[in-house]
Amino acid sequence: MREKVEEILKEIETFTATTKEQVEEYRIKWLSKKGEISVLFDDFKNVAPDLKKEMGQKLNELKNKAQEKLNQLKEKFERSDSSSDEKIDLTLPAEPIPLGSRHPISIVRSQIIDIFGRIGFTVADGPEIEDDWHNFTALNFPENHPARDMQDTFFIDNENKIALRTHTSSVQVRVMETTQPPIRMIFPGRVYRNEAISARAHCFFHQVEGLYVDTNVSFADLKQTLLYFAKEMFGDKSEIRLRPSYFPFTEISAEMDVSCFICEGKGCPVCKHSGWVEILGCGMVDPAVLDNCKIDSKKFTGFAFGMGIERIAMLKYRVNDLRLFSENDVRFLNQFKSAL
Ligand code: DAH
Repeated sequence: MREKVEEILKEIETFTATTKEQVEEYRIKWLSKKGEISVLFDDFKNVAPDLKKEMGQKLNELKNKAQEKLNQLKEKFERSDSSSDEKIDLTLPAEPIPLGSRHPISIVRSQIIDIFGRIGFTVADGPEIEDDWHNFTALNFPENHPARDMQDTFFIDNENKIALRTHTSSVQVRVMETTQPPIRMIFPGRVYRNEAISARAHCFFHQVEGLYVDTNVSFADLKQTLLYFAKEMFGDKSEIRLRPSYFPFTEISAEMDVSCFICEGKGCPVCKHSGWVEILGCGMVDPAVLDNCKIDSKKFTGFAFGMGIERIAMLKYRVNDLRLFSENDVRFLNQFKSAL
């Protein structure tokens, strides 16, 4: 028994625990009712009478040591449990809070709103589900125009010709029907087209429409407004070029190119070596459209323009696939953390 006591003493002295579970194992092994020390106490009755005094002392000593060690271990783990405040270093810098980033479409849209806001354009919007009158007829689209075709437009009620709007020009009509000039407004919003989704086309995208109606509004006003926009959006060195075009709702109509802000007109892959990139469609509001909206076309004239937000974002940030804007891939979105 003497050897056994010595052995256990050694084991107890060298024992260390790294988890609470190990402390509990220690208690069960040595100090529980069926633990090894209790078993030794049960054996005590078999000790020869002349050794009883010595062994009794030794056994008591062993039990006390084991208990003392258990108390120490318990205390150690309780302290590290409850006294986490001892570990807090208040001088440490705070954990960074992970911030999201603004979507590139939102960034460009607010830049456009801001640029036009500085020259007095206010913002309005209209419904994305639109009727034939506001999306097509009031804008002078002839009855057989291909845009009215199911191939190009998502109709949600064929009989009543209700569709997802194909452009934000519909908001021009809604605003002119309810507001007499002067009107100086932009209309940002989402539009829908029945297109196969690819790197260059999508079934929905975003536009900003502009409308200015007043007395004596001229094509020169349009040109100057767009030049101001190009310089603010793409840099002070930007120049613009207007090419004749056709839209049912404007007469005369034009498409605007801006000098390539990447190569400054020298020629690069972005401008396909032409020095110019196409940005928007524009023109003088067709008098028939003004009349459709009960605005006196003898008294008032106006200009309008419409641009795609994705197109501008793709040019500005050199994004080569339209689908990236709607996939919500954080690896893409995180790249705009430092943008405005
Ligand atoms: N609505 C045209 C489109 O979706 C863009 C546009 C062209 C708007 C000329 C206009 C404009 O206001 O004057 O392609």
